[in-house]
Amino acid sequence: MSLNVVILAAGQGKRMRSDLPKVLHRLAGRPLLDHVLGAAQALEPESICVVYGHGGEVVRDALSASAGDNVSWVSQEPQLGTGHAVMQAVDHLRDDAPTLVLYGDVPLTRLETLQRLIDAAHAANDGMGVLTVVMNDATGYGRIVRDHGKVVRIVEQKDATEAEREIREINTGIMIIPTPKLKSWLGRLGNDNAQQEYYLTDIVALAVSEGVTISTAHPDAEWETLGVNSRAQLAELERIHQREVAERLLEDGVTLADPARIDVRGSLVAGRDCSIDVNCVFDGEVTLGNNVSIGPNCVIKNVTIASGTRIEAFCHMQDAEIGERCRIGPYARLRPAAVLAEGVHIGNFVEVKKSSIGVGSKANHLAYIGDATIGRNVNVGAGTITCNYDGVNKHQTIIEDDAFIGSDTQLVAPVRVGRGATLGAGTTLTRDAPADQLTISRSLQKSVIGWKRPVKINK
Ligand code: UD1
Ligand code: CA
Repeated sequence: MSLNVVILAAGQGKRMRSDLPKVLHRLAGRPLLDHVLGAAQALEPESICVVYGHGGEVVRDALSASAGDNVSWVSQEPQLGTGHAVMQAVDHLRDDAPTLVLYGDVPLTRLETLQRLIDAAHAANDGMGVLTVVMNDATGYGRIVRDHGKVVRIVEQKDATEAEREIREINTGIMIIPTPKLKSWLGRLGNDNAQQEYYLTDIVALAVSEGVTISTAHPDAEWETLGVNSRAQLAELERIHQREVAERLLEDGVTLADPARIDVRGSLVAGRDCSIDVNCVFDGEVTLGNNVSIGPNCVIKNVTIASGTRIEAFCHMQDAEIGERCRIGPYARLRPAAVLAEGVHIGNFVEVKKSSIGVGSKANHLAYIGDATIGRNVNVGAGTITCNYDGVNKHQTIIEDDAFIGSDTQLVAPVRVGRGATLGAGTTLTRDAPADQLTISRSLQKSVIGWKRPVKINK
């Protein structure tokens, strides 16, 4: 079915007390408006029109590249109400498709809910549909006024009579309207009300007067329709969203030490029998195989972790690939393009960047491995450093299979360590080390015979 979507995002968001426009504040790592655009795009509409307000160029600049080709941007200046906001979008609305109105600061509406609203309006003769919720405390919202069960109008809190304020069914603001009718109704809106605004909600009474049916649909959960007006509400929605993500992981068979202490800011896909300890943050696309266990306090962004691997506490990893049955951490750092094969061990205070490490190789303590290719069964001793940067360019270090790198070695790249080579502890390797030999650079050790410690002089 074809569809126009209008996203209202011109409100000032004063209560955020922020220089950043409200809809650019982030929930689960993404701007609020990006969530709404995502939900809108999932409906595969013909076009989406975002109505932005004062300072909105920042919003447009932040999101226009990722929003999609079917998104247009119009500014609303000054902001004279939700009806006035939709008026700014009319040139972008195709008459042969209905128009769905969303709010840029309501980020968590589920696709099923929007689809339910669209279907309800479609089933009622392509009429108008409003997403409503029954709330215990409806203060502040527009109320749904019904007569013999039929919606007859929406009245705003500030314009409502005492009796109307008792109504607990509220307008979420999300509605779908036949477009040619919407255009004619918008032209008839006035602002003779408590806020002297052009209320989009007034089109309901106009629709009813023309005999158009108003159907209603409801979300499964109230939080789907909650908006963000303050940082407190933003934090509240973040927790609601994270709780939902955690519930889904639990349902999918992931063990979470505490579902209240995990943050997923992107997508986390896990195989069977994975377990995640407390306070881990997952960002971007993270994929876990089967039987992966992740210790507490890890930050993991765009990483693939294969089956049977254990990540110990306090690891930080980004844009890396980890093979099966590896052991990482505690306190390990994997930077972009770290690629670990099966059975690799990376221990505490080891940093790996743009390097591949072969099957069964180990770097267990205090090392920097950058721009390196390391073969199989290599042992990298404590304190080993690839000196990959000469101040201008980066250079490669190659360590072949079965090499043993003694502790506190510096590999001054470009340099190659041959297969089965051993480097003595403390070596500064500046030329290639041949296979199967011991290479060592170290000044000779001596002991001074008859040397005495200085004696304290008493004054
Ligand atoms: C609106 C509804 C109310 C509903 C409530 C749900 C109207 C008249 N009232 O009230 O029935 O219960 O939402 O939260 O529609 N916006 C613009 N331009 C404007 C004014 C608003 O783009 O000139 C945008 C805001 O950025 C926001 C949305 O429209 O995303 C709603 O605006 P808001 O001021 O929050 O509306 P309410 O008065 O709360
Ligand atoms: Ca509001």
